[in-house]
Amino acid sequence: MTLGLAGKKASCVAVWLSMALLPRKKKRKDPGLPGASHSRAGDGPLTVAKFSEVGIFLVERKMGSSRRSFLTQLARKKGFRVEERMSESVTHVVSENNSGDEVLELLDKQSGICRAALVDITWFTESMGAGKPLEVENRHRLQEALKILAENAQLCENEGRYLAFTRASSILKSLPYCVTKMDDLQGIPSLGEHCKRVIKDILEGGICREVEELIQNERYQTLKRFTSIFGVGVKTADKWYREGLRTLHELRASKILLTKEQEAGLLYYEDLIVPVTRTEADSITKIVEGAVHRFLPAAVIKLTGGFRRGKEYGHDVDFLITHQEEGKEQGLLYQVINWMAAQGMILYDDITDNKDQKWKNKEPEIFDSFAKCFLIFKLQKDVVNVLRPNTAGDDDSLAANKAKEIGRGGHAETCERATCAAVKVKDWKAVRVDLVVAPFSQYAYALLGWTGSQLFERDLRRYAKHFKHMSLSSHSLFDNEQVGRN
Ligand code: UTP
Ligand code: MN
Repeated sequence: MTLGLAGKKASCVAVWLSMALLPRKKKRKDPGLPGASHSRAGDGPLTVAKFSEVGIFLVERKMGSSRRSFLTQLARKKGFRVEERMSESVTHVVSENNSGDEVLELLDKQSGICRAALVDITWFTESMGAGKPLEVENRHRLQEALKILAENAQLCENEGRYLAFTRASSILKSLPYCVTKMDDLQGIPSLGEHCKRVIKDILEGGICREVEELIQNERYQTLKRFTSIFGVGVKTADKWYREGLRTLHELRASKILLTKEQEAGLLYYEDLIVPVTRTEADSITKIVEGAVHRFLPAAVIKLTGGFRRGKEYGHDVDFLITHQEEGKEQGLLYQVINWMAAQGMILYDDITDNKDQKWKNKEPEIFDSFAKCFLIFKLQKDVVNVLRPNTAGDDDSLAANKAKEIGRGGHAETCERATCAAVKVKDWKAVRVDLVVAPFSQYAYALLGWTGSQLFERDLRRYAKHFKHMSLSSHSLFDNEQVGRN
């Protein structure tokens, strides 16, 4: 080992570290799957890095400065050492959506020699989930490659391929052992030829050419960027791409007519791409509970989605609301939204009534027809969490005005900097929140349906249909044979 770690403290970290930098020789003792050990982001800042032997450098390119800064804070809170610059003490270079060649080229421009392991974001997120640095494995490379291929299939509206790659990635994630050779895949269902080819390439050469090329592909990059805006789906993103748009700056400067949802998505873009932490989700839970209980003191409010599954952070916060006395929940959503709006807590809202006709013709196994509200919540940050307290003089309206300027165009770089400045001085964060209201008799199904993951729900419904001849949705579970339906 070149890192000169003290032999005595050859703890699991040292062992792990040596394995991270050398080809893997043996299985890791603790698989440390995400969520296996919960070290909350809200444990409070640690001044001394718990895992000081591990030095992380996050590559900003493609990750963006807001996300990089979020991930830096998250890692530091969990006791990881994150370096702002590349140096000799960096052991792990973490990048997202960059090819290996690109990272090497970027590092070449930085001072410091790269002896570190080049790892992708899956290693980082899993390590955060486990609360400790994990061994770098092909597993991370494999999952990431399959996820990228799944994402691309989605952007090409190829649902079959999307499902195949998503399933494969999910299967690899759940395997109780590490895949090191093709034989390890024997007997695993749902692994098609294409997936196997990708896995083989990575196991043999560390990379998959198809994925490397995809990452460089202009359409993939552009559609990924546009669909990361709230309110923008694949069809819209593809239309903009075909019209010649490539960047958010070009979109903002264009005369393209945006929906209200997309306008809000673009206006709060910088906040919305930063993951929501569990601490933030807990704060929002308290606020939503307070708001709902004003109108219905006995209402039940349940945090659902990824956070209910134990995820440490997510893209939004999902809630399911009900009341044991069926019917009491009627009209509740409007009261709650109106009250929260009056308190200045809402930046954008879109209420769908359960009587809304647009849901009537939809497939109940895919679209439910509960009263719901997709909103952008204005979460006040704790004063201690404001990044630059010395700029406390800046108020909301300044930040909001800045955000508005950004939303309406201007020069790209200036925007980027202005956005960062606005994010740093403002004392609130825009967070996507979904509120769903279900009548009590359907609550159990709604809870199951809104807990996710999307793939799990999908496969559960497929299993119900094909193996049990039943129809499962967020509203009910029917025995098709008894009801006489197909
Ligand atoms: P999310 O999209 O919020 O996913 O939907 P998530 O699992 O919480 O992960 P994040 O937010 O990206 O971290 C949560 C669940 O709600 C259901 C889906 O089944 C999904 O698994 N859902 C979502 C619906 O039933 N209908 C919808 O319109 C949206
Ligand atoms: Mn969610």
